[in-house]
Amino acid sequence: MKIKLLLAVLLSSTLSLSADDNAQELLEKHCTTCHMTSSSTQTKSDKIIAPPMWGVMKKMRQNFKNDDEAMKFLVDYSLNPTEAEMIFPLATKEYFGLMPSLKGKVSQKDLETIAKYLYK
Ligand code: HEC
Repeated sequence: MKIKLLLAVLLSSTLSLSADDNAQELLEKHCTTCHMTSSSTQTKSDKIIAPPMWGVMKKMRQNFKNDDEAMKFLVDYSLNPTEAEMIFPLATKEYFGLMPSLKGKVSQKDLETIAKYLYK
């Protein structure tokens, strides 16, 4: 029941960014399974398994001076997440665990498409 509800929320309130269907599909396929894009995360906070996507993006914007650097980081981190590279505080890792590498699951090219989509 609860899983169905969560799924409905995820599907109905994905990021309302300019339409790039392919990029949105890639994002939903590879990222939002963990990083939810719903804005109503507060009520679901006990069920989330990773920081919500907007939280990740906020953190990224605070940490990188320009979008190119941020996009590069996003691609690199997705392929090769390490504690040393983390921009979230260590507590994030202790709470959620380190992000699993997406190497072999999503190509560098697709990650670049996702990064561009998130930064548009
Ligand atoms: C299996 C779950 C999972 C998937 C799938 C996933 N992530 Fe993550 N991600 C996490 C968790 C957990 C964290 C928090 C711990 C950390 O930073 O490694 C995280 C953190 C991040 C961070 C911040 C890293 C930092 O410096 O602290 C970025 C950026 C990120 N994810 C991007 C992505 C992108 C882009 C995708 C899709 C291509 C994706 N993630 C897919 C679980 C996931």
